[in-house]
Amino acid sequence: MSPLLPSRCGVARSANREPPPYRFPADFLWGTATAAYQIEGTQSDDWAAFEQDVIQHRRFEQLAPGKPRPGHIHRLGDYSQEIRQKKTDFDSRIEDDLAMAAAMGHQAYRFSISWARLFPSPAHTEPDPAGLAYYQRIFAALARGRMTAVVTLFHFTSPAWLWQQRAGRRGWERPDALFHWERFVRAVLHHFGEHMPIVCTLNEPMVYVYAGYLDGVFPPHEQRGAPQSVLPLVERLLEAHALAYHLVKADAARRGKSVLVGFAQHTRAFEPLRSRHPLDRVAAAVIERMFIWDFCDAVSSGTLRMTGTFFKKEIPNLRGTQDYLGINYYGRYYIKATPLTEPHFEVLMHDPEAPEADRPSDLGWASYPRGFRVILQEAARRYQLPIYILENGTADARDDDTLRRQLLVEHIHEMWLARRHGADVRGYFHWSLLDNFEWAEGFEARFGLIKVDYQDGFRRTPRPSAGLFSRIIAQSGLDEATCREYGLLSG
Ligand code: BGC
Repeated sequence: MSPLLPSRCGVARSANREPPPYRFPADFLWGTATAAYQIEGTQSDDWAAFEQDVIQHRRFEQLAPGKPRPGHIHRLGDYSQEIRQKKTDFDSRIEDDLAMAAAMGHQAYRFSISWARLFPSPAHTEPDPAGLAYYQRIFAALARGRMTAVVTLFHFTSPAWLWQQRAGRRGWERPDALFHWERFVRAVLHHFGEHMPIVCTLNEPMVYVYAGYLDGVFPPHEQRGAPQSVLPLVERLLEAHALAYHLVKADAARRGKSVLVGFAQHTRAFEPLRSRHPLDRVAAAVIERMFIWDFCDAVSSGTLRMTGTFFKKEIPNLRGTQDYLGINYYGRYYIKATPLTEPHFEVLMHDPEAPEADRPSDLGWASYPRGFRVILQEAARRYQLPIYILENGTADARDDDTLRRQLLVEHIHEMWLARRHGADVRGYFHWSLLDNFEWAEGFEARFGLIKVDYQDGFRRTPRPSAGLFSRIIAQSGLDEATCREYGLLSG
């Protein structure tokens, strides 16, 4: 159980007295995750509009690695129109890329379906045939490679037309947003429901809310101020999740199939920068609850509450709408209270006093495998549900990706420990199969097991981590040699 007030942990990974091997059950699902906008050819959606605006006004800056500047996409101008349009050129390589994943031993593939590709205009009452044909290729390639499809219905982007005002609102806040969402979800189910055993309704709703409406680094670039100001949007996303959950379950029941439905929650270990500082500790605790658990609690109980406020609202049909908990984990954030300046805290991506100890990624994010186990155990304690790791990875652009390899092994070890302590973790999806478009960080942050060479016609080259991941899958975990090679036995 996490303590009432977190303190800062001095070690990056957990001790383990049990000797290797650290194995996972035969039905544990290993795979990778991607998202439509990040790898596919551009559709007419809110992010495409943002990209065009960035190019037109030459807004290519960042404040610091990992800290995008609102309204900007880091170094986007360094990439040609062709690259910006094709992203990874996945469109012409679907079959090859997925055959490569299958050949690497991956058993599953998480991807998202672009709402704008299926419904490019509001006049489309039926999905666009070319859009359907596109996703048919993906499902067919997965079937050929005997890989389980894990489908995300919303991964940050929505059709451009949804951003025209209706009754003074746009995007998810339009009064008719759920009507259009339902049409999209029904279309996906009608055409692909047969092949969707695991569904993720929303990807990281709190990142979407925070980045788009508080921090302003994602469309629609709002900075609404107080966290309470985003509650109507959070409610709408919960309604969208509940609606999708019930549609997917009803579709599966009609087909006589079973399906697991959940959503993906972005998690970090939030720890006080100054361990003994009570305000840092309080701020870290409040942020963790608000950012990670409030949304999950709402889905579990049916009532949305916001930590630190008296807000409480029941959302119809929401209670218990998750069959599993989807966890995305990306390391540690340090919280520093700043009582005299809004918003009264600062988020640090690594400790500026001791950066080496944090092994920062190319984005400056502190690596913290131990936090992974802590979050998984906390999730298991809170909800007693199966858990799927829907994302975990790091930005490491090097051809010999030593950081990615090290972290891969350490996180799998922590996941094994979490299972040992009762967390029912059933699958692990590495972010990501390929280098891709990392939102406001542009093409610079490289998360792929497979490198994409943008200067050489999108050429694919597996990094050493791809081979390591294949070995881990083949051995259903970590054998002694791997543990030794990556220093797990030394401390
Ligand atoms: C998102 C991905 C993103 C990854 C790495 C997650 O927050 O779901 O779209 O690329 O983290 O930043």
